Amino acid sequence: MADKDSLQETHNFYLDIPMENEPFRLRGSNSLDWGMKNRLSKIFCPETGRTVMLAIDHGYFLGPTTGLERVDVTILPLLPYADTLMCTRGILRSTIPPTFTKGIVLRASGGPSILKELSNEEIAVDIEDAIRLNVAALAVQVFVGGEYETKSIHNMTRLVDLGHRYGIPVLGVTAVGKEMVRDAKYLRLATRICAELGASYIKTYYVSEGFETITASCPVPIVIAGGKKIPKLEALRMAYQAVQQGAAGVDMGRNIFQSEDPVAMIQAVRKVVHEDIKPEEAYELCLTLENERKREGR
Ligand code: R5P
Repeated sequence: MADKDSLQETHNFYLDIPMENEPFRLRGSNSLDWGMKNRLSKIFCPETGRTVMLAIDHGYFLGPTTGLERVDVTILPLLPYADTLMCTRGILRSTIPPTFTKGIVLRASGGPSILKELSNEEIAVDIEDAIRLNVAALAVQVFVGGEYETKSIHNMTRLVDLGHRYGIPVLGVTAVGKEMVRDAKYLRLATRICAELGASYIKTYYVSEGFETITASCPVPIVIAGGKKIPKLEALRMAYQAVQQGAAGVDMGRNIFQSEDPVAMIQAVRKVVHEDIKPEEAYELCLTLENERKREGR
């Protein structure tokens, strides 16, 4: 028991220092509860307000995608450079070390494989399991204009309700079907619908014309997917343009893990996202790192 005699009689209440009450810097997120903000801070770097999410959830409908055949071999070395990992619970439990303490964004919808109608998804994770896994957010695919549009939006709103009950943000992923035009008009529609219906942040695609109108009309943070593998410099340019035009970062998969040297590429992406470094400079850095690593036999 504490010794009463040792209690000090003098106190300092710092009466001249007003208590700070900083607003939460993430766009549209100031009214969220503490747990939501804390989880979002495991995704978006508190210093920059941006994120490099490493997306490796492709197997949930594609099976062993190129670059993800052996997550233990190819992805674990990338984890120190990612702010957040987006994956399925299968990969999380089987392959990701529980000592990984950054945010996990859990793939929470699924059902159809690449062989079927992709928009016909269901919620694929019980909220209790997401809590057990201590995830930072739940990711759900939304197929605006798709065959099962309403069902996919309902998946999202259901997860938003469950997420609010337990303090877990929901990432709305705007899925673009093969037959859909990927332009600013469509992505404005899809991202805004996700935000209006409660997603805490949205993943969409970068478009070279009008991307800033997508970020401007979406009241919560937007991150961009990387999409199909393109040359490194182009991928870095895309990431750069996106953050300069209002995106809060990237959720990038194939352009990192299918790159010639993923460890070098993810470091270059970080420079563009967190330090506003020009893509050409980041590309040079990537090449330098690649050469160094080759010399060291890595
Ligand atoms: C796609 O459905 C997956 O959810 C990926 O997480 C997403 O497309 C981002 O990966 P990538 O940069 O390879 O497009």
